[in-house]
Amino acid sequence: MRRFVIIGHKAHASADFSLVDLAGTSGRIDVLLGCLRAAMLVSHGLRRDAVVYLVLLGGSSAPRTVRVRGDEVSFLRPDERSLAVLMKKVLAAPVSGPGFCRVRPGIAVAGEGIEAVIRDLGACTRYVVEEGSPDIRAANLDLSHPAFFVGDHGGFDEATRTRLRQLGASSVAVGPVSVHAADAVVLVSNELDRRTVHAVDAAPGAAAGS
Ligand SMILES: C[S@@+](CC[C@H](N)C(=O)[O-])C[C@H]1O[C@@H](n2cnc3c(N)ncnc32)[C@H](O)[C@@H]1O
Repeated sequence: MRRFVIIGHKAHASADFSLVDLAGTSGRIDVLLGCLRAAMLVSHGLRRDAVVYLVLLGGSSAPRTVRVRGDEVSFLRPDERSLAVLMKKVLAAPVSGPGFCRVRPGIAVAGEGIEAVIRDLGACTRYVVEEGSPDIRAANLDLSHPAFFVGDHGGFDEATRTRLRQLGASSVAVGPVSVHAADAVVLVSNELDRRTVHAVDAAPGAAAGS
């Protein structure tokens, strides 16, 4: 299983954003949805071995975390609007407790931020994906239980960095240029694909779009 944790420092933890102006009304939840698409969807299919955590730290309902499991989720569309509609429905669920609570097949919500993720991840090797770090190409990656933490449009806050450092996370860069968060997810996924025999579930109907 490959796990991606996206830290949305301002992303709204409630469904109070507008689909007409998603970026302007959601604390940039569009950045997190781009990461979800990048981590979970391939051409004509879902990555069944991927799990994505969207940590939502903005708005009055924060903190909350949405977990999407590729081996359980039944249908994800690749376009931003469809993902935003799905996120609205998921965030409308009245979940506030600290543990993950299933709200749809493969999708669960916790009323907590990064600590819920750390507990849920259990034993794994943590990587902070950050500019200026040692190149992922040269890293001796754990290919069985890796968890990659990715920042939003503003990068990481110091508290998150410190917490991940305490947990022994190592930092990796995906190249010399600062790219969009979703592109960093794609580059990490590609690096894992190159090193593993990776079965993509491309069964017709697993996902819409291409
Ligand atoms: C748009 S970038 C962050 C913006 C900007 N660097 C900042 O911190 O103000 C979003 C996230 O993508 C990831 N990222 C972007 N470029 C990267 C690179 N070259 N190597 C590793 N991670 C990168 C990091 O996780 C980063 O926090």
